Amino acid sequence: MTDVKSVPLTGVDADVAAGVAQFLSPVVLDLQALAVDGKQAHWHVRGTNFQAVHELLDLVVQHAQDYADLAAERVVALGLPVDARIQTVAAKTTTPALEQGFQQSDQTIAQVIAQIDAALVTVRTAVEELNELDQVSQDVAIEIARGLDKDRWFLFAHLAA
Ligand SMILES: [Fe+2]
Repeated sequence: MTDVKSVPLTGVDADVAAGVAQFLSPVVLDLQALAVDGKQAHWHVRGTNFQAVHELLDLVVQHAQDYADLAAERVVALGLPVDARIQTVAAKTTTPALEQGFQQSDQTIAQVIAQIDAALVTVRTAVEELNELDQVSQDVAIEIARGLDKDRWFLFAHLAA
């Protein structure tokens, strides 16, 4: 009989797990903030291209939620908790505040791009720092960076030249 109490919490070294949590947790917080503010932007955007931007912002929200899930579950898979409670997200996100109320779409897009850019700084730091520490976790950060770059492009392409 296998002694279930002897099953280790995780297959990786505790120091590696702690390092991964250190660099992926801020990614989770920025993406959760992007998801909340992306919805705010989705609800309040106005302009002649309303329909397209309104729908695109919902896609940005969905992606932010998916990427947050990916990063958070990587940390949890290594045996450590993530603190992404709403108060923690609000206190620690690096994303700039969104203006309240209705906005013309160029304004909305510029502000959401600024949030994505802030999140990308956090994600790219994770990519760099995780290179030496754990390349499997680095791959998570790389996937998120690639996705955010693409969402940024889709948003930017809607701006008037
Ligand atoms: Fe909606």
